[in-house]
This record gives sequence, structure tokens and C-alpha cells, in this order.
Amino acid sequence: MGGCVSFQISCDQVLNHAGSYLCGEGNYIQSLEKNLVALEKAMEDLKAKRDDLLQNVQIAEEGGLQRLNQIQVWFTRVETIENRFNDLYNTRNVELERLCFCGLCSQNLKLSFWYGRRVFYMLKEAEDLKSNGVFEVVAHQTTQLVVEERPLQATIFGQETMLERAWKHLMDDGTEIMGMYGMGGVGKTTLIAQINNKLRSTSCGFDVVIWVVVSKNLQVERIQDEIAEKLRLNGGEWSQKDESQKAIYIHTFMRKKRFVLLLDDIWRKVDLKKIGVPFLTRENKCKVIFTTRSREVCGHMEVDDPMEVQCITEKDAWDLFQKKVGQRTLKSHAEILGKARKVARKCRGLPLALNVIGEAMACKKTLQEWDHAIDALTSYAVEFAGMEDEILPVLKYSYDNLKGEQIKSCFRYCTLYPEDYQIDKDKLIDYWICEGIIDGNRGRERAVNHGYMIIRKLVNAFC
Ligand SMILES: Nc1ncnc2c1ncn2[C@@H]1O[C@H](COP(=O)(O)OP(=O)(O)O)[C@@H](O)[C@H]1O
Ligand SMILES: [Mg+2]
Repeated sequence: MGGCVSFQISCDQVLNHAGSYLCGEGNYIQSLEKNLVALEKAMEDLKAKRDDLLQNVQIAEEGGLQRLNQIQVWFTRVETIENRFNDLYNTRNVELERLCFCGLCSQNLKLSFWYGRRVFYMLKEAEDLKSNGVFEVVAHQTTQLVVEERPLQATIFGQETMLERAWKHLMDDGTEIMGMYGMGGVGKTTLIAQINNKLRSTSCGFDVVIWVVVSKNLQVERIQDEIAEKLRLNGGEWSQKDESQKAIYIHTFMRKKRFVLLLDDIWRKVDLKKIGVPFLTRENKCKVIFTTRSREVCGHMEVDDPMEVQCITEKDAWDLFQKKVGQRTLKSHAEILGKARKVARKCRGLPLALNVIGEAMACKKTLQEWDHAIDALTSYAVEFAGMEDEILPVLKYSYDNLKGEQIKSCFRYCTLYPEDYQIDKDKLIDYWICEGIIDGNRGRERAVNHGYMIIRKLVNAFC
């Protein structure tokens, strides 16, 4: 007997199972054919209803209204059930072939039972959705001005006059498009962000204010997607549209709105028509503002009187630098103040350099460290010519100050992203681990924590 197992399945048990599959409350097997036909019909009605509603919603949206959230939820539910129905329908023939005795029984009771059950419940769900899909109103007017607040650094020095000038120019009835240019790090993004925030806090009669970071790699469709997201036009069907359909959709919506479009950091001409931005006229009072490093780009955008964003004055630069270094360090030795002035002057009024170097010097409390900084900034500077290039040594000094090859590699990795790009911390750390910059062999949690520590150090060093 050793090694043998005997099975004893009672006849009662088998009959009980079969009985419950055949005569259970749903009677799913016997009603399968009938329920399938009913489900097909219900889905057909539901889809037709969805298409009609969608058409109404699109007409309303083109008229500048916004679809109701409850309609969007209903559309999503219909889409989900449609996908599930397609899956179910794919195996329809196989399931029907399994039936025997005129559809009263099945060659595989268990499979037919579960399939029949799915059909039964989906039919109920489709009918419920159909009866819930009655909407007297599909969209509503958005009365509030949609402006996202842009984050700004707490202490901004020496931009009040520039901001005032830019604002006055923008509000002038004759200004339709406005360009601001200046070298990298001079404060263009900061200035246009202040304009954005001012539009947010001041009622100027605009319906929408849209902020888009363009950057070097200009892609019309990406700009369209960002605009659509801000205007909440990117519902279900949006992703299926091509570039020109998206342009038409944006155009029909924006045509009815008084808008301001802020384009930060453009590197070449942006074809507004291609994006779908309506023509700017004195009558519609819509405006476009952009920033760029190049004056030439302003010409290509047909701006004859662009505004130059200039470095801040020596006095403002000194105030900013002191703020960044902190009084504790500046007063830690009688001679540091004088040396700090020299370092600040090396930054040539460029806010980016003042911020970066100021942060780097905040913890330097010995005269040797300050002498070394002046030395380094002076000797690198010899290798470069011109204002823009003189800033490089300033930034290089800050980079050299990062302790260790690993953090430097992590920093260099960040330069692969476009300027002003919102970098996802977790993804960035994953990339660092995948690239082998951070050792992932000693446990993921440990590597991720290490990644967070590096991010903190980088932020402290450069922001
Ligand atoms: N006037 C200012 N005062 C203080 N910090 C500033 C000022 N302008 C710019 N910054 C800071 O300098 C850095 C570079 O400014 P940003 O506006 O991004 O320059 P740009 O867009 O011209 O490259 C940012 O960290 C910003 O917060
Ligand atoms: Mg910028």
C-alpha cells in the first residue's frame, strides 16, 4: 500500500456543483445566449449615446465652455466597459460552441457558468450606465481666471524697475506680442514669472493666463499638450488627435477667450499659428509674452522693440550676495567683508552667479577660503573672454566645490534635462542607480536614501 493514495469523491458533491452551475440564482448558462444578444444591443445603444453626448460636449467646448466633471466620469466609465466588453466578445464563439442540449447545458459547466455570470453582470452595468447617461447640461462657463502661481525665490533684488517697465509695456493697448531677451542666468524666467503672478493677483480682464516652458528642443505638439492641459481640453479624445487637429481644437477654444500666453525660454521662432494660437489683434486684446537669450529671435517673432533683461546694479548685487552668504559668515572675521565684496564683484551683477557663489561661500569662515575663491575666480577668468564667458569660471568654482566625483557625476547627469524642466526626484535617482553612479547592489532602499541625500546637497549648493 505504501506510496499509494486513494481518492474518494462523493457522488453527492459532484451533483451539488453541477446543480449550482445549472440552477443557481442567475441561471447564467441557460440565459447565456439571450443575455449575450441583450448585452450586444445594450453596448450598441450605449456607444451611440456616448457619441451623441461627445458631440454636444465638443460643441460646448468650442464655444469656450468647460465639460462637467460628472460627464467626464461617465465617459471614462463607458470607455472602461467598452474595453471589457471587447475582451468578453472575443471569446464569444468559443463559449457558445461549448453549449449543448439547445443551450440548456454545457460541456464545461464551470467555464460556461463563469462566462455567463460575467455577461449577466456586464449587461446590468451597461443598462445602468445607459440610464445614468442623461445630462441636461453638459458643460458650464468657467468664470474664474485660471492662472497658476509660479514659484519664486524669496529674495529678489533689483528687478522692480524692470518689472514695472515690462508690465506697463504689456498693458499698453498697442502691445500684442512682447519679447524679453538677455543672457542665461540674468533673471528672465524670474521676471516673466513675476508678470505671471501679477496677472494672477490683478484683475486685468483676461480669461486665461497660460504658462509654457519651451526650451531648446521646441516641439509644437508638446506645447499644444501643455496648453490643452492648462485649459483642461485634454480629455479622452485629445490624445488621438494629430498636430493639426490639436491646433484647430485649441484655436476654437482660445478664439472665444481673452488670453495671455507666456512662453519662457524660446530658442527660435515659435509658429503660433501652427500651435493653434489665434491671431493677436488690438480688438481681441490677447497677448503673448516670451523670453529668449537671443535678440535675433525677437526679430523673428516680429517684435521690433524687445526689452533687454539686464544684470542687476552693483549695489543690488552686493545686497543679494550678502543675503546669500549670511551675516554670521560675513562677520566671522574682520577682513571677510572686504574679500566678499571682491567676490561679489566677480559675479558682474548676474543673479545666477551671485546666488550660486553666495550659497557656496555661506559656510566659508576662514580668510584662506575666501582668498582661494578670489584666486580661483581670477585665474580661471583669464582663460575666458567676454562677459558671458566670465561667468563660467564663477559657476565652475561652485561645481569644483562639490565634494567627490559621485556628486559631480550626479550633477552632470542633471544637465541632460532641458532648462527649467521639473525633474522627478524618484526617477532621477532610478537613473543614477541604473547608470551605476549610485551603487544599487547594497539594497534599493539604501541607494534611494543616498540619492535623496545627494539631491539635498545639490539643491543646497545651487539654489
Ligand atoms: N533679481 C534677482 N534677485 C535674486 N535672484 C535672482 C534674480 N533674478 C534671478 N535670480 C535667481 O537667479 C537664478 C537664475 O535666474 P533665471 O530667472 O532662471 O534666469 P534666466 O531665465 O535668465 O536664465 C534663479 O535661481 C533665480 O531665482
Ligand atoms: Mg530661464
